[in-house]
Formats: sequence, C-alpha cells, structure tokens
Amino acid sequence: MKRTRILQVDRENPAEAALESAAEILRAGGLVAFPTETVYGLGANALKDEAVDRIYQAKGRPARNPLIVHVADREQVVALARSFPEEARRLVDRFWPGPLTIVLESRGVVANRVTAGGDTVAIRSPAHSVALGLLRRLDFPLAAPSANRSNHVSATSAEHVADDLDGRVDLILDAGPCEVGLESTVLDVTGRPIRLLRPGGLRVSELEAIVGPIDREQENSGSNLRSPGQLARHYAPSVGVLLQPNEAAAADQVKKFVDERRRVGWITTEPAPIEPYLFSSVLPLNPDAYGRQLFSALREMESAQVEAIVVALPPATDAWMAVRDRLLRAAATESS
Ligand code: TXA
Ligand code: MG
Repeated sequence: MKRTRILQVDRENPAEAALESAAEILRAGGLVAFPTETVYGLGANALKDEAVDRIYQAKGRPARNPLIVHVADREQVVALARSFPEEARRLVDRFWPGPLTIVLESRGVVANRVTAGGDTVAIRSPAHSVALGLLRRLDFPLAAPSANRSNHVSATSAEHVADDLDGRVDLILDAGPCEVGLESTVLDVTGRPIRLLRPGGLRVSELEAIVGPIDREQENSGSNLRSPGQLARHYAPSVGVLLQPNEAAAADQVKKFVDERRRVGWITTEPAPIEPYLFSSVLPLNPDAYGRQLFSALREMESAQVEAIVVALPPATDAWMAVRDRLLRAAATESS
C-alpha cells in the first residue's frame, strides 16, 4: 500500500498551505492524522458516515465504540447536542479549548457511525493551534479517535502514528510530541450527578471546583459499561506490563529477569542501573511530566522487544489518577 505523506507544521504558527492540504483531503472524505494537546487524532468529517467508516477501518476499531467529535468552539455545541446544561456550559467556559470531553444528548446531526448508533455524542475543543486551525477552515466538525491501531497505546508523536497507520491514512500533520500525552478527561453531563467516564488530562478536583462532586465510579463492572473506553485492555501495549506496588518491588522483579538473561523493560522514577538485558526509561516523579512521556516509553520498550515491562504503580491520588488508569489497563490480562 502507498506510504502516507507526512507534513511538518509549526505547532504555534502552522503554515496556511499545510492546513489547506489537510482541509482538502477532509472535504473529499479522506483521513488526516493531526496533533492535539493530548494525543494525535485520526480525523474525518463527522457528518458523513462513509468518511467516519474509514476511521473504523484504518484503526480496526469495533463499531460499537463511539468517537469524540472535535469542534472549533463552544458555539458549535448547540448544533450537535439537544441540550447544553448549565454545568456543562460552566465547564466548557473554564476548560475549552482543552483536554475535556463532554457527553451530551445528540441531536442526531452527526453521522450514525460517530455515536455508534447511540443517543449521546461526545464533544471536545482541543487546545492546539494545528487542530484549531484545521477545524476553523472546515464547515463541519471532525470525528477523531486517537491515531493508533485499535487496542494499541495512543500516539503522542507523528512517528507513533506512522508506525501504526502508515498507508492507512492520507496525511499526517507533524507538530512534534504532544504536551499532555494522555487522552482527554471524559465526563457524562447528561444526568446528575455528572459522571467521570475516563480520567485524563484534566484532574477531577479541577473539574469539581467548578461543578461540585463528580461521580468517580468508573470501574469495569460490566453492567456499568457506559463508555467503551472502560474496556479493560483498551490501552494495552503488545508486551505484558507487570505492575508492582513500589519501586523496591519493581527493582526485585527486574533483577530476576536480568539474572535469568531475559530482556526486560523498566519504567521507573529512580535512577536505573545500566545492565545487559535491561531497557530502562526513567520518568519524572511528577504526574504531568510522567503522563507526557508514558506512552512513548511503552512504545520504546515494545520496539526493544522485551519480554515484559515492569512498572511501580504510582500513589492512588487525584493527581496520578489518569496515569494509574492507563497503567492498570495496560496490565489487564483479560479483554472484556
Ligand atoms: O484526548 C482525546 O480524547 C483524544 C484526542 C484525539 O482528542 N481522543 C481520544 O479518542 O482519545 P478515543 O476514540 O481514543 O477515545 C474516546 C473515548 C472512548 O473511551 C469512547 O468510548 C468515549 O470516548 N466516547 C465517545 N463517544 C462517547 C459517547 N457518546 N458516550 C460515552 N463515551 C463516549
Ligand atoms: Mg483511543
């Protein structure tokens, strides 16, 4: 299959010509991978079923998993959603553009494929000049899931996108690595209380400061599968992830692999020894900086063809919630 074209764009001031090339492809029903502040998105015209269908094919994504609709500004929400509750407006006023996705009752304007036939629609306005520049050029919103093969770790650079989707997408806009590095926080604002469907780039405490208590029950309790992103292995790398309660236990497990001369990956926040068979990635002990680098570290370990990736699970605090969520999913052994 033909290789995908990659266009370098300035993250602050993207060239008009590059944005226009991307816009032309999208108007013709094609697929463009573009950077957002969270992760790279795989975009298509959200109003056209045939265009959206290409996203599912390119990713190998199950049809029952709905997509996020990306908009240039909050004015577009009323065109897509049946109602825009007061709390949702307050959240959007405070956090858009930014890593917050809100689930609202759909007006049925977006393609059926976007909502997976459901009666709600997920919407967000991304804080990235390239994404916004593109959206402002178009007279339709963009459906865009993360630009990775289904079940793989999200792409936080254009290289990651190309590794997963080369030949399956018409163009990749490359503006370098993503600043947040983890996907957006997804909130269901259709009822009360507001429910957290996926922890992400915005902390729940920041959201609660604006709208009061949010229901954080987002366990995969089967009956409660409102957001298919809650499926256990949604963010899994192809190599098994072994979680440990702390760095000392992680170090012990790593040592066992090394002693047996088995290639092992170690994602750690402490200085790691240099040893044969050990592929370590030292991340900062700061939730934002750690989150920015996590997916990239997981992909590096995969490329090093390690037998397993060992990671100490960070503390169960609000600040680490999204990182913990992604690590727990990466480590989950069973699909649900
Ligand atoms: O940061 C992000 O959100 C990135 C960038 C590209 O914007 N996008 C992203 O999309 O992570 P995706 O498709 O990988 O994840 C979308 C999540 C999934 O968990 C999906 O099930 C959920 O949002 N979702 C989408 N529409 C929904 C709906 N109507 N109701 C409930 N959950 C929905
Ligand atoms: Mg995804």
